Amino acid sequence: MIRVASALPRHYCRSFVTATPGIFQAVEHSSQLPSEAQRKYIEKEERYGAHNYHPIPVVLERGEGVHVWDVEGKRYFDFLSAYSAVNQGHCHPKILEALHKQTSTLTLTSRAFHNNVLGDYEEFITNLFGFDKVLPMNTGVEGGETAVKLCRRWGYDVKGIPNDKARVVFVEGNFWGRTMAAISSSTDPSSYDRCVPPITSQGL
Ligand SMILES: Cc1ncc(COP(=O)(O)O)c(C=O)c1O
Repeated sequence: MIRVASALPRHYCRSFVTATPGIFQAVEHSSQLPSEAQRKYIEKEERYGAHNYHPIPVVLERGEGVHVWDVEGKRYFDFLSAYSAVNQGHCHPKILEALHKQTSTLTLTSRAFHNNVLGDYEEFITNLFGFDKVLPMNTGVEGGETAVKLCRRWGYDVKGIPNDKARVVFVEGNFWGRTMAAISSSTDPSSYDRCVPPITSQGL
């Protein structure tokens, strides 16, 4: 049987509920108690992992293309696609082949060095999207951080805003990650508490 997994962690539900009620309903429908088999995995994550997210109780084991399977063999459509990080599908053979080839040749270089493939990638991706330059990121929230920096820089260099007067405006109810800037610009109380207060709203 194929199930529809519109699985968004609960704190996102609050963020999405007003903007996209359809998604919220889908999340509520997919809420279920974990089975005995799934519970042991969830309990281990709860025991040893920081509680910075609250996933729905589905324990996934493998994926192929648009489908994922949980530890009991149930198949789901993965409409979430890791918030677009796996839009290409799970275990894409071309990507796996390239990944294996590269990591078994040269696993990683820091930005302290050049390497023989970064420029090719940068040329390809900027041509594909029609941008002048690219700054690759590891995570979504780094992309948001960089966008904020770029906007401020553009405000000063291009728009001519006087020094220290630039302000970045965010919509209420946003969620874009857990860094200090992200939580500082969020109105979602789950983004911060007494341990992690917003740094400042000045300038954001
Ligand atoms: C809407 C949204 N934006 C940004 C992020 C942050 O992405 P990442 O975890 O890749 O930094 C997330 C997920 O955590 C998200 O749901």
